[in-house]
Amino acid sequence: MTSLRLFLCCFVFTASSINLVCSRSLQKNHAALFVFGDSLFDPGNNNYVGTIGRANFYPYGETFFKHPTGRFSDGRLISDFIARYANLPLAPPYLQPGNKQFIYGANFASAGAGALSETYQGFVIDLKTQLRYFKRVAKQLRQELGDAEAMAFFSRAVYLFNVGANDYILPLTSNSTVLETFSKQEYVGMVIGNLTETIEGIHKSGGRKFGFLNIGKLGCIPSLKVLVPGNNGSCFEPVNELAKLNDAALPKALEELEIKLAQFKYSMHYLNISFAERLNNPQKYGFKSNIACCGSGPYRGIDSCGGRRVVAEYELCSDPSEYLFFDSGHLSDKANKQISQLMWSGTPDITGPYNLKALFET
Ligand SMILES: *[C@@H]1O[C@H](CO)[C@@H](O)[C@H](O)[C@H]1NC(C)=O
Ligand SMILES: *[C@@H]1O[C@H](CO)[C@@H](O)[C@H](O)[C@H]1NC(C)=O
Ligand SMILES: *[C@@H]1O[C@H](CO)[C@@H](O)[C@H](O)[C@H]1NC(C)=O
Ligand SMILES: *[C@@H]1O[C@H](CO)[C@@H](O)[C@H](O)[C@H]1NC(C)=O
Repeated sequence: MTSLRLFLCCFVFTASSINLVCSRSLQKNHAALFVFGDSLFDPGNNNYVGTIGRANFYPYGETFFKHPTGRFSDGRLISDFIARYANLPLAPPYLQPGNKQFIYGANFASAGAGALSETYQGFVIDLKTQLRYFKRVAKQLRQELGDAEAMAFFSRAVYLFNVGANDYILPLTSNSTVLETFSKQEYVGMVIGNLTETIEGIHKSGGRKFGFLNIGKLGCIPSLKVLVPGNNGSCFEPVNELAKLNDAALPKALEELEIKLAQFKYSMHYLNISFAERLNNPQKYGFKSNIACCGSGPYRGIDSCGGRRVVAEYELCSDPSEYLFFDSGHLSDKANKQISQLMWSGTPDITGPYNLKALFET
């Protein structure tokens, strides 16, 4: 057994560092983390997808990693903090060549992805494809661990989701006619329906513990505020309206899954509360401003950070930790850390019925 433990004590290479991992996380009962969704969690999968929806250039990554990784932030993402709190190494992007070790989990998230396949189709890894990749990983782990051990492994693991925001932004900011075909309620129902199917697919492989965030005031991100005529500081309300319908429907869907799926347990973070508090009162949370650190135009809301998308000119603040947003649509490392702490150990008024710590430990 000693030699087995020594064998298990290993170096894990991550984007930022080399960690010696042989403590709690490699004990027999360590719980893996599987991550699904959009740019809030994408550690660089889009670097391997034909898209302009990437963040693999300066100044992305400038603070924590000291180099661009593909993350849409100056530093870490929520999924990075959660992995750290769970004593797990940071999962590399699933699509990164050579990535074959999934005993700590995997990250399938893709910037721009939605629950619907139509959302930025061809430029993102949509949720269905993310599920397909997970099934591939599950098959490999069943071969490595054997069916019974793999089932136990999947039931201990936590599956973290952030999806929906892009489904709600796209039809309201493009010439899509989908909201002429479907009512807002029906459209939200399709988003939640596709999320539900993904959860059911993971449950079939043994997944039991799921983490979510709701959406809240999405129309108040700088890149959407610039769409309001006159740029008078108002939020882009059509997006807030869809987000509100989503936030009413999501808890109902999760309660139904709790009844339908054996041993289904979940954590939902009320981003509608934590985000609104920081938007409305940035100083209280240690931010100088609720505009973006990097970008151009009003609120630095034009999505030009790094000058590699459509617009080449951009401004960059000197200290991203003074800003709620790093770029026009994504939170700074400091803001991500605050939200992550609430997700990990927040009380039921902000994260419930389980927080992620309880979900990992249960
Ligand atoms: C409208 O949508 C079509 C097809 O998706 C696209 O080719 C076209 O460029 C869009 N036009 C505008 C003004 O966005
Ligand atoms: C999933 O989304 C598609 C559109 O991409 C829609 O046609 C379908 O009805 C949705 N599924 C559910 C269960 O809502
Ligand atoms: C800003 O303009 C929008 C419409 O253009 C209007 O509905 C809103 O009340 C205005 N907000 C402020 C703070 O003046
Ligand atoms: C936040 O969302 C939850 C459900 O997702 C809802 O019950 C609550 O009323 C919302 N709170 C605010 C302040 O929007």
